[in-house]
Order: sequence, then structure tokens, then C-alpha cells
Amino acid sequence: MHKILILSTKNPGKLREFKSYFKDTDYIIKSMDEVFKDHYDIEETGASFEENAILKALFYSKISDYPVIGEDSGLSVESLNGFPGVYSARIGKTDEERNRIILDKLKNKKGEERKACFITVIALAFKGKTIKTFKGKVCGYITEKPTGENGFGYDPLFYYKPLKKTFAQIEPEIKNLYSHRGRAIKKMVKYLNLNKNIIL
Ligand code: IMP
Repeated sequence: MHKILILSTKNPGKLREFKSYFKDTDYIIKSMDEVFKDHYDIEETGASFEENAILKALFYSKISDYPVIGEDSGLSVESLNGFPGVYSARIGKTDEERNRIILDKLKNKKGEERKACFITVIALAFKGKTIKTFKGKVCGYITEKPTGENGFGYDPLFYYKPLKKTFAQIEPEIKNLYSHRGRAIKKMVKYLNLNKNIIL
């Protein structure tokens, strides 16, 4: 029988990647919409990815019988002192606008000055308690212009050297092999497999 894990996110891109990752496993990812009839806005008041991931996971774990995953992630551009970081979702109204802001800020920057990393923290909570957090990171370079149609957010700007493609030019299954999110999920699955009794 499949074990249900709830993903506390409103981001359809993240949901797609989580569902894709767990496709052939003993776990099944359900979004909040599939489980709860009421929706709540969880304010991301934390100062770090970890604090926000825990906020998201704990909230729904208090009103659910299933384990809940909270995820907070973002882009960190080294030459911009980590900008946009925890504000990644909030520097503009749309993905296009946010991408434009990053490209404008890097207008005169070349080579290593365009280095950027995606960072994520996943928090796993059960019945109002944080069980554990898992981190994932992947680094690449910001392109000169958006390239590719897949993915979401900053993916069209994120050139991943080993694949010679942006994250928007690859399928979710491939992205999961290399991405910050895929790496953190892998750690979580390993933990769950070793600690099966924890979410019974
Ligand atoms: P969150 O929902 O507060 O965690 O916002 C994360 C934001 O970071 C997203 O809205 C995207 O803008 C960006 N982001 C996080 N992960 C990715 C990714 O895998 N690809 C592209 N953008 C991402």
C-alpha cells in the first residue's frame, strides 16, 4: 500500500516535480488541494529557507493525520550577495518580471560573476512536530536571456554546465536527478526508508 505524504505548497511547478519524483515509489504525494477543503495563507515570516520550510510543514501537520512536507527554496546569485535568496518568490509579480530583474542586475557581469545556486530546505513534520529537515543545492550560471519552456520560476535563466542546458530545457524527471529539490528529496526518501516507523 502507498503511504501518503502531503506537500504544503501552492506552487504547481514544485508539486509537479515532487509527484514526478515519487511516481514509482511506495509513497504518494498529495497536494493540500487534494486533501483539505479549506485553504490558509501561511505567511513566510522566517529569516531562512529552513525556518520557512518548517512553518509550512508544521501548519498543515497540525490539522492532518498524514506526514506533511514543507519546502522553501530560492535562487542565490553570488555576485549579488545571495540575492534574491529567501525573497525569490517576491521580487516581482510574475516569473517573467522576476527573471527580468535578475537579468538587469547582472547586465554588466560576465563569467563567474553570473554564478548562481538554487537552494532548498525540505521539512518533514508529523502531528505538529518537525521530524527532520533536508537541504539540497545545485550551482550553475545565469544566461544572457531566458531559454527553454519547461520548469518554472528562474529555470529559463539557470544554465547547468554538465548538461549544457538550462533547467527549462529538460524534463522534470531529468531535472530531479540534478536539482536542489531532487537532491533534498533523495535524502528524505533515504531517511524515510531507514525510519519507516516514524510516520506510522
Ligand atoms: P517559495 O515558494 O517561497 O519556496 O519560492 C521559491 C521561489 O524560488 C519560486 O517561486 C521560484 O521563483 C524560485 N525557485 C525555487 N526553486 C526553483 C526551481 O527549481 N526552479 C526555478 N525557480 C525556483
